[in-house]
Amino acid sequence: MVELRELVLGDARALPTIYTAEAVRYLGRPPMEATEALFRARQALAPPVGLPYDHMLGITADGELVGIATLHQRSTDTAAVGYVLRPDVWGRGYATLAVRHLLDLARRHGVSQVQARHHPDNPASGRVLTKAGFAPTGEHAGFPTYTADLS
Ligand SMILES: CC(C)(COP(=O)(O)OP(=O)(O)OC[C@H]1O[C@@H](n2cnc3c(N)ncnc32)[C@H](O)[C@@H]1OP(=O)(O)O)[C@@H](O)C(=O)NCCC(=O)NCCS
Repeated sequence: MVELRELVLGDARALPTIYTAEAVRYLGRPPMEATEALFRARQALAPPVGLPYDHMLGITADGELVGIATLHQRSTDTAAVGYVLRPDVWGRGYATLAVRHLLDLARRHGVSQVQARHHPDNPASGRVLTKAGFAPTGEHAGFPTYTADLS
């Protein structure tokens, strides 16, 4: 079973196994090292003040932390999703289920439109989005863009 849950400090150990060189290839960031992992886990425990929501959640499969899903507020009624899975669990449908959970969370926040985009060389991410209910909307700065209409 794939679920989303709040991060705890102990998750810092697992984050570098998720944000590996292979996983960050299209994310425009370096692999995560232990220091950043601890910072991120602490940050997730105390989200920035001033935003109604800015989630960084763990993706668990049968209770094991295997990825990270994010939901960032963009405006009063729009939000953006992000997701990264540990490479050894790719291809099992986990990201699609996690994104569906993110859409449920967005609905609970009263969001009417969720936005997403992916690197042009990362079609698997686009497939995740369309399977989860997003529709392609074109591209921005070379990145294919998608929206999920929740209204
Ligand atoms: C992209 C990513 C999230 C997918 O996670 P996942 O759990 O493997 O995704 P799912 O199993 O739910 O679905 C993957 C789909 O992409 C398809 N796919 C895989 N490689 C593909 C490719 N090269 N071209 C097209 N589709 C591809 C799979 O076949 C599957 O579709 P299907 O169910 O119709 O067969 C994962 O590879 C990942 O974490 N990558 C690194 C981080 C990242 O790129 N995040 C997205 C940022 S926008």
